[in-house]
Amino acid sequence: MQIISCFCNSVSGIIYRVSMLILNKTAGVFFKPSKRKVYEFLRSFNFHPGTLFLHKIVLGIETSCDDTAAAVVDETGNVLGEAIHSQTEVHLKTGGIVPAVAQQLHRDNIQRIVQEALSASRISPSDLSAIATTIKPGLALSLGVGLSFSLQLVGQLKKPFIPIHHMEAHALTIRLTNKVEFPFLVLLISGGHCLLALVQGVSDFLLLGKSLDIAPGDMLDKVARRLSLIKHPECSTMSGGKAIEHLAKQGNRFHFDIKPPLHRAKNCDFSFTGLQQVTNKRIMKKEKEEGIEEGQILSSAADIAATVQHTMACHIVKRTHRAILFCKQRDLLPQNNAILVASGGVASNFYVRRALEILTDATQCTLLCPPPRLCTDNGIMIAWNGIERLRAGLGILHDIEDIRYEPKCPLGVDISKEVGEAAIKVPQLKIEI
Ligand code: KG4
Ligand code: ZN
Repeated sequence: MQIISCFCNSVSGIIYRVSMLILNKTAGVFFKPSKRKVYEFLRSFNFHPGTLFLHKIVLGIETSCDDTAAAVVDETGNVLGEAIHSQTEVHLKTGGIVPAVAQQLHRDNIQRIVQEALSASRISPSDLSAIATTIKPGLALSLGVGLSFSLQLVGQLKKPFIPIHHMEAHALTIRLTNKVEFPFLVLLISGGHCLLALVQGVSDFLLLGKSLDIAPGDMLDKVARRLSLIKHPECSTMSGGKAIEHLAKQGNRFHFDIKPPLHRAKNCDFSFTGLQQVTNKRIMKKEKEEGIEEGQILSSAADIAATVQHTMACHIVKRTHRAILFCKQRDLLPQNNAILVASGGVASNFYVRRALEILTDATQCTLLCPPPRLCTDNGIMIAWNGIERLRAGLGILHDIEDIRYEPKCPLGVDISKEVGEAAIKVPQLKIEI
């Protein structure tokens, strides 16, 4: 109703002002207005190209790891402007992220990226409702650049500030692309994180399990490095995970047999270090057999990629299966049509998505994943998290005196011990892709 009356008011306002222009024209005082004037005129009706009215608008800034990203998003989920600078190629050359290098690259690019996102949005910074920035968790040096830039901007523009938890933003992205109500289960798998959580509200999470060591993306990056995939003509500019996915398509996953990790622990925790070590041993053995040195490409690289990808997917599916059963057993999720959301860089992997789909089909759930470019780090998810918090009235700060970044920060209330104590046995599920 509010929208309809707002629409009517604005339309009658437009008719009135257009009539005034025509009257002025007939009175001989009409002149061709500049583009800027036209835009200001349209904005006076809350008009924006692609939307009809200005809603709440948030600028989101992300620098928690190796992407400098910014976006302007409105309340209805319209992405008004977006820009990103990825450091992947630089870090590929150094064989991993060097924090001081990441920091310098963020410093070199943040001003330009934020400016590009704002210019693309064609709104004036004064029209922003708030500025939202990732302040936790992440690399300290990287977080610091985004935070100090944002605080300066907040001070200049006199706008509210919304500190963002990077993983909360990954979890809520799906509500920008799909109509998803709370509660839902979320699986966040990326280069720095791996967790399963029940999302009950914008900032209301129950943590069911997490990685006990490294994240799956980190494991894939390490395996890709050990296989020297940067020297592979088809993969030289791809992140480790993407390179593994690409090569795996040409490989045979039955070539090796690696047992999925933690198969005896009846909880929802993950582990990937063992998988990485076993894979390293295989690679060393193969190098000997093929008579090649470390740093050269193995002829069986695609088979190794296929095996590691499959084993990782099976492990992820099994832990997620237990999380679904636990939530249903405790009535935390509906028995039918519960939603499983998968996000984070590794969730852009189509083999993993297909494996999760086999799971959701078997458990009467629905799998939803943001499009791949919104699974990896981006500014849109941060701006959207800002909108979600603005709408819920949560964590909107007008005083920015004591804000600090937090490199480590858990997500939600940790009930993983309770999940382990329930010791739910997971039925066998064939992952045949
Ligand atoms: O979410 P993200 O951009 O950054 C973190 O928050 O970590 O995830 C980056 C991670 C990297 O480890 C990268 O290798 C992995 O996601 N990744 C993939 C794929 N694309 C990126 N892993 C598997 N398959 C992919 N297609
Ligand atoms: Zn991320």
